Amino acid sequence: MTSLFNLLLFFFFLVLPFVSNAQSDDPLGQFCNQDTVISKASPIWSNIDHVLTELVSKAPSTGFLTTSYGSGNDKVYGLAQCRGDVSQDDCSSCIQDAGKQIRQLCPDQADARIWYDYCFLRYDDKTFIGEVDTYSGIFYINVENVTDPGKFNKELGRLMDRIEADAVVPENRGLGKSETKLTPFITLYALVQCTRDLPKLSCAQCLAIAVGNFPAICNSRKGCRVLYSSCYVRYELYPFFFPLDRNDSNIARGQTIKKLVYP
Ligand SMILES: *[C@@H]1O[C@H](CO)[C@@H](O)[C@H](O)[C@H]1NC(C)=O
Ligand SMILES: *[C@@H]1O[C@H](CO)[C@@H](O)[C@H](O)[C@H]1NC(C)=O
Repeated sequence: MTSLFNLLLFFFFLVLPFVSNAQSDDPLGQFCNQDTVISKASPIWSNIDHVLTELVSKAPSTGFLTTSYGSGNDKVYGLAQCRGDVSQDDCSSCIQDAGKQIRQLCPDQADARIWYDYCFLRYDDKTFIGEVDTYSGIFYINVENVTDPGKFNKELGRLMDRIEADAVVPENRGLGKSETKLTPFITLYALVQCTRDLPKLSCAQCLAIAVGNFPAICNSRKGCRVLYSSCYVRYELYPFFFPLDRNDSNIARGQTIKKLVYP
């Protein structure tokens, strides 16, 4: 009895915090536009709160929402979106975290953006809806390199072409994901996601710019992620999108490092 009780205590106080933090900790990155500093007295400040409340409460049910609040120069625009393959529960907790963290990380900016693997959220006092934005990019690259770059890059290129084409098919809502076997034991997984406010051509343009960075930045790494305000691109040698390929989910992931890129 005592040991069961201890086990429960152990679970609640030691294990559970880790479990519940697993999805909710730090974002992959944020962008707080320092040219848009506002004071707490500004009407923009409270309009941001309105926009955030609406994004957090309404975006998870469909995985995507754009909204605006206020009038004239104080109007604030917002967008929240989950990756198309994540569940509504994961989407909901991701957007809630994003809504909380963005105000802590960018407390004084009218233009702020925050990236997670499962979702993306931004607001601004200028409209950005429907426009391609690849200004600031966040990259995560695996420290390890593939052993056969020639073959790898050829297969990667083919896979990216295929999923970029899927992403612009209207019913796919900006999402493309697939995998290809490099050897009987090694599978390459890739996913692209545009924000759903983008027209087809703009989505294709964002993905082309993101993938265009592969030779210089991803450079035959075992995994790479490009995070832009208008699209997300990722490839790995382990499964990372849903539904998860369970046979491969124990593959060692290797260490990744973060790089910020400004054109
Ligand atoms: C991978 O290649 C890059 C250069 O292309 C090099 O800087 C890096 O150290 C390599 N990583 C490993 C783990 O060898
Ligand atoms: C997983 O492996 C088993 C046994 O090798 C196989 O029967 C099954 O089809 C595999 N599942 C997937 C999703 O590849």
